[in-house]
Amino acid sequence: MKPPDWDNVAQAYAAMSHESRHLVVFPVLLDLLEQQSPKRILDVGGGDGRFAEAAARRLPQSSVDAWDSSPAMTALALERARESKSFRVLQEKPPLCTYDAVILTAVWMGWETDEQCEDELRQLAESATDDGILLITVTHPCFRQERFSTFSTDFALPWYFDNGRPFTVHVEADNKRIQLSNTHWNLSAMSGQLSAASLNIERLHELPDLPSSVGDGGSPWLVVQASRKRRHVLDPAPDPDVARSA
Ligand SMILES: C[S@@+](CC[C@H](N)C(=O)[O-])C[C@H]1O[C@@H](n2cnc3c(N)ncnc32)[C@H](O)[C@@H]1O
Repeated sequence: MKPPDWDNVAQAYAAMSHESRHLVVFPVLLDLLEQQSPKRILDVGGGDGRFAEAAARRLPQSSVDAWDSSPAMTALALERARESKSFRVLQEKPPLCTYDAVILTAVWMGWETDEQCEDELRQLAESATDDGILLITVTHPCFRQERFSTFSTDFALPWYFDNGRPFTVHVEADNKRIQLSNTHWNLSAMSGQLSAASLNIERLHELPDLPSSVGDGGSPWLVVQASRKRRHVLDPAPDPDVARSA
């Protein structure tokens, strides 16, 4: 199966407003953002802009930018921004060292190689200010084999150490059903990619499924709270005159 073609599935995916991202992940991200009161927020891979709109409404003192590489998703976000006027949709890659909080939700599992993950995460890190916070959400790699309220996969636990393995996700909500191809990165691979992108893990938040879920248990979503690695300030080079006279 090919990687997701977001231009083709944009309409159907955006119409799933009861998918567990909205009901389980977004409220936690909004709480975490509120605790930080960031001035500038960026949602990378922000899809139809629903989260950016919610963040702008919840944090009226903040400015919120959304950026997505899919033109069809960007068109949906622009439509939403036109209606709400409370956030901005970027039409080109975000600027560097600008954002106090950077969000990436349900995007990382769409990246297919180690190099791609490291490059994309590095760009994400570089869009944050030095002391910015990054909130990166993925489907929990330890529970892919479980059935959750709005998605299930064809992944099997014996493949846990098989990094880079593609698997199929079935998403079902609002009487709609779509199928996506994702790539498995286990916790070791994820922490390695974050480190290669000069990001430190500050905290992990493992989210429970919807209370009404009749699924198999386990955690559907993992939020990685990360920060940029600080550059070490090197000791100044010794003054050659002082060194000679010593
Ligand atoms: C599963 S959707 C998630 C959308 C949104 N974050 C949400 O939770 O509603 C993944 C989105 O990431 C976008 N995407 C994938 N790779 C990207 C990249 N490198 N930069 C920007 N957007 C990207 C896709 O176009 C798609 O809209």
